[in-house]
Amino acid sequence: MAHTYWLRGSWAGRARVSADSWRLYFAVLVDSEPVGMQDLIGRNFTWFGTVSSFSWLAPGSRGRGLGKEMRAAILQLAFAGLDAGEAGSDTFVDNEASNRVCRGLGYEPNGTDWDTRRGEPARIQQWRLTRDAWERVRRDDIELTGVEECLPVLGIGQRSATIGPGRTHRRLIAAGLVVLPVADHPRGCG
Ligand SMILES: CC(C)(COP(=O)(O)OP(=O)(O)OC[C@H]1O[C@@H](n2cnc3c(N)ncnc32)[C@H](O)[C@@H]1OP(=O)(O)O)[C@@H](O)C(=O)NCCC(=O)NCCS
Repeated sequence: MAHTYWLRGSWAGRARVSADSWRLYFAVLVDSEPVGMQDLIGRNFTWFGTVSSFSWLAPGSRGRGLGKEMRAAILQLAFAGLDAGEAGSDTFVDNEASNRVCRGLGYEPNGTDWDTRRGEPARIQQWRLTRDAWERVRRDDIELTGVEECLPVLGIGQRSATIGPGRTHRRLIAAGLVVLPVADHPRGCG
């Protein structure tokens, strides 16, 4: 059944967390009812400071502003909580809601690519949100809790290296990092 497949994917993903490959699976709750999921994905985050995301809402909860809210929340975690430098997103070009979420939160178009959808090739729009662009739309009404405790698990430990002009970035200084093949993980989308 579809939901069992998704749950197994989430549980497996939680077990695979390593410093250079993680996927954080968040449930979206409205009045304590689960209505969707919002994932934040980091690949080689300790080196590049980049994240991507995956968003999904139950059909009855779409089109009411929740998609934009949950992405804003995950971006707050990425930039304010984890000190990310850049967030990317991939959307199918005809997924108007997903494209508008990106555009509305300050992402800029960043080229196109191809993926498969229901067994057919489909064009992907790539988006990019820099830290500076996020700062311009930064919200002050999103509260993060429990982030500090998670940093060591994600390999984010020390403020030490400079990535980009004048920017201090958290970066793990450790030998023997394990890098999982990207092909092991579903693509970040939305
Ligand atoms: C993509 C998704 C998370 C967006 O969430 P949402 O709650 O429906 O979107 P919102 O209500 O926050 O609306 C965001 C923007 O899209 C617009 N929008 C929403 N639904 C739309 C629709 N069906 N057609 C066109 N525009 C739409 C809104 O007007 C808003 O635009 P604005 O900010 O310019 O005013 C949700 O629709 C979803 O889960 N879709 C199925 C899964 C999916 O496609 N995930 C992305 C994988 S690539």
